[in-house]
Amino acid sequence: MGFKVAVVGATGNVGREMLEILAERTFPTDEVVAIASRRSLGSEVSFGDKTLKAKVLEHYDFSDTDICLMSAGSEVSKEWSPKIAAQGAVVIDNSSCWRYDADVPLIVPEVNADAVVGFRKRGIIANPNCSTAQLVVALKPLHDRAKIKRVVVATYQSVSGAGKDAMDELFKQTKAVFTLGEIHNKKFSKRIAFNVIPHIDTFMEDGYTREEWKMMVEIKKILDPKIKLTATCVRVPVFIGHSEVVNVEFEEPITVDEAHEILRKAPGCLVIDKHEPGGYMTPHECAGEDATYISRVREDTTVENGLTFWCVSDNLRKGAALNAVQIAECLINRKLISAKQKAA
Ligand SMILES: NC(=O)c1ccc[n+]([C@@H]2O[C@H](COP(=O)([O-])OP(=O)(O)OC[C@H]3O[C@@H](n4cnc5c(N)ncnc54)[C@H](OP(=O)(O)O)[C@@H]3O)[C@@H](O)[C@H]2O)c1
Repeated sequence: MGFKVAVVGATGNVGREMLEILAERTFPTDEVVAIASRRSLGSEVSFGDKTLKAKVLEHYDFSDTDICLMSAGSEVSKEWSPKIAAQGAVVIDNSSCWRYDADVPLIVPEVNADAVVGFRKRGIIANPNCSTAQLVVALKPLHDRAKIKRVVVATYQSVSGAGKDAMDELFKQTKAVFTLGEIHNKKFSKRIAFNVIPHIDTFMEDGYTREEWKMMVEIKKILDPKIKLTATCVRVPVFIGHSEVVNVEFEEPITVDEAHEILRKAPGCLVIDKHEPGGYMTPHECAGEDATYISRVREDTTVENGLTFWCVSDNLRKGAALNAVQIAECLINRKLISAKQKAA
């Protein structure tokens, strides 16, 4: 018997990708349901070679749903995830709403799959922020080998990380620049076309943004509470694919060759690192791919035991939809959930 899976936010950037990944990986489903807001009632979304008509969240009964992949923002998740979990579906949530709750596991399967059992407390599992997911996939194997003390990261985040309206804004602004049309800023505080914006999410009292704070807190919860991290998160005019420059200080010495070897064997990582033009990965090439790509690994001689590298991944996949589906696979493979009996 297969599982009944509901995707809430199915008309969004992440929700559509979730449906695609469920189909691609032949996830063991009996039924997949697409759910969105009233605005999308009857809209169609693709699931493999099928088309699903979107249903409205408020009217949906989750009592025979096994797994709910939730991707409709924090406000919706705050209200609905506990209600859906109370109806007996395991909720895997993409928003930041539950990530910092001590009773909700925050999971990247390549890094802390064992923590998934903690889902029993609330029936909810959290997916990390997109920039955290790719970072911890790359850092985990290096941490296992040489113990990370401190990380300094700068991100170059694509507009798809801010939802489908943000992608439209980049497209419309880019067109307007060429046709001398008017430029409107709605999703972003400044023009994003042909620009970069050093600001993602809201500002906090200490001058960091919440996006930066999320990376600092999430790395501790997923990887190791002792790791110190400072981040600068920047939005760039790229549609899909987040890039990061990562500077790491280790407790023990580690060479570039060792790091290459460790990362080549690490789950979820691919190393593309030739010292020649084009011998590295860019966001354009990583779109639609599952891996976290690592390039430009080099020694940082300004600190003891330092390495710097470039890391790129598809934020809609490893940063969101793929990670959520991998968590669901983890529950099934570890026999932590079984499909509910469905009415005939
Ligand atoms: N994009 C990323 O890289 C990324 C990475 C990690 C986490 N996330 C998180 O994933 C979530 C979704 O992001 P996204 O990029 O897919 O956003 P999006 O493209 O703006 O899509 C939002 C989805 O949520 C639905 N929705 C909104 N309000 C709703 C309501 N009241 N009831 C039911 N459905 C509602 C929308 O339905 P309608 O079409 O009907 O409005 C749409 O399907 C956010 O929490 C985001 O922070 C995103």
